[in-house]
Amino acid sequence: MGEMISSLTGGEANYAIIGCGVEGRGMGWYHALQLLNGEIPRARLSDVVEPFFLGAGKDLPPGKAFAEMAAKWKAKGVQFHASVDSGSLFSGATSGTKIALIAGRTCDNPGFFRQAIKAGATHILLEKPGAPTVGELEAMAREARAAKVPVYMGFIKNISGYVEGALAAANGAAGAEAVETKLVSRNDYTEATLEECFERNAEGMLKNMAIHEIALACQFWGMRADNITDVICNAKGGKDSPGCDMRTLGGKTDFASVDVTLVNSSGTKVRISADRCSGDGCCATVTDTSNGVVLYSQEMVGGERAKKVAAEAAAHPNWFSYLYTQAEEYAKLKGVCAAHALAGTTPPGVATIEIACEALKLAEWLTPELQKKLKK
Ligand SMILES: NC(=O)c1ccc[n+]([C@@H]2O[C@H](COP(=O)([O-])OP(=O)(O)OC[C@H]3O[C@@H](n4cnc5c(N)ncnc54)[C@H](O)[C@@H]3O)[C@@H](O)[C@H]2O)c1
Repeated sequence: MGEMISSLTGGEANYAIIGCGVEGRGMGWYHALQLLNGEIPRARLSDVVEPFFLGAGKDLPPGKAFAEMAAKWKAKGVQFHASVDSGSLFSGATSGTKIALIAGRTCDNPGFFRQAIKAGATHILLEKPGAPTVGELEAMAREARAAKVPVYMGFIKNISGYVEGALAAANGAAGAEAVETKLVSRNDYTEATLEECFERNAEGMLKNMAIHEIALACQFWGMRADNITDVICNAKGGKDSPGCDMRTLGGKTDFASVDVTLVNSSGTKVRISADRCSGDGCCATVTDTSNGVVLYSQEMVGGERAKKVAAEAAAHPNWFSYLYTQAEEYAKLKGVCAAHALAGTTPPGVATIEIACEALKLAEWLTPELQKKLKK
């Protein structure tokens, strides 16, 4: 009945957040907040699954804070679960469109993905990178195809205006071989918080932070692990030229920054610059390298939007800054996915799980390549 009503009226999509995390830190928590605040057209927050803070971590201080928040959200009609297979996921869904937004730790997400399909999710929005390895992600893609469950990836930059502009500029430029697109990503960790960042993002810089730019390079610039003909490590220089900095912290070796130019067999050049300790934000620049002329340059956040972000930063000094910096894209992604899930159509620009597999392949190939180059 819900199905019939939703198809007649357009209806609304139900979102279950799987792996919520705590206020100001969890990606899932921020997605949930936007839904709860009514910021996403034609979508509602039906369920939250929080395995750790409602489970083994419930007596820790963040677990207690989570319980307080859950009590408030339950009063607004959200159902809470300690596991995906609680047996009651989506039991309060208001239509047949049930989207599981999976935002647990990357190592846990393949398990949540399978459980979500079994629990009746009709669509999945999977946070990047999706799984720790290519093998696991490819298996998940096969299982979703067999279950006829479309998978949308949480690569927000793929639907962002600054990337659309860069792509148009790069495609419009004559003499593709002279054109370089530079994709910059900055995070605001510090020397003091870098070790915690290495530990929490255990899949490593290329499969975690820089996977956004790698996914862009795969989806829009035709980069693949098996067509790269050159990898150039760029020297440390001025702004957004952090060089490649590999370190071992707390026993874990990872990159504090990478700055590499990838060249593929068609001559396409994409420079990926990701720095964990250089503020917050991202931008794209397209340059004609034959004469140094900048054809396009755009930050994700600028102008009026920057003022809004600054106000959010002042209001929430303890939140991870990327939550409010990228708020527009997080909202847009959930809105576009809800609308297309309801219509049974494919959301344009949104990365597929097949693109995510290609991105992860490239990251898996590039990580040892870079380590080798840097050890020389
Ligand atoms: N699209 C983006 O811009 C973006 C940004 C940040 C994170 N992400 C992705 O979102 C996902 C979640 O990232 P996050 O930073 O919110 O993760 P997080 O570590 O803050 O929380 C994820 C989950 O981990 C579990 N957890 C926390 N501490 C635990 C512990 N000690 N033991 C066992 N479980 C524990 C909790 O259940 C929590 O819900 C990841 O896949 C990440 O790559 C995406």
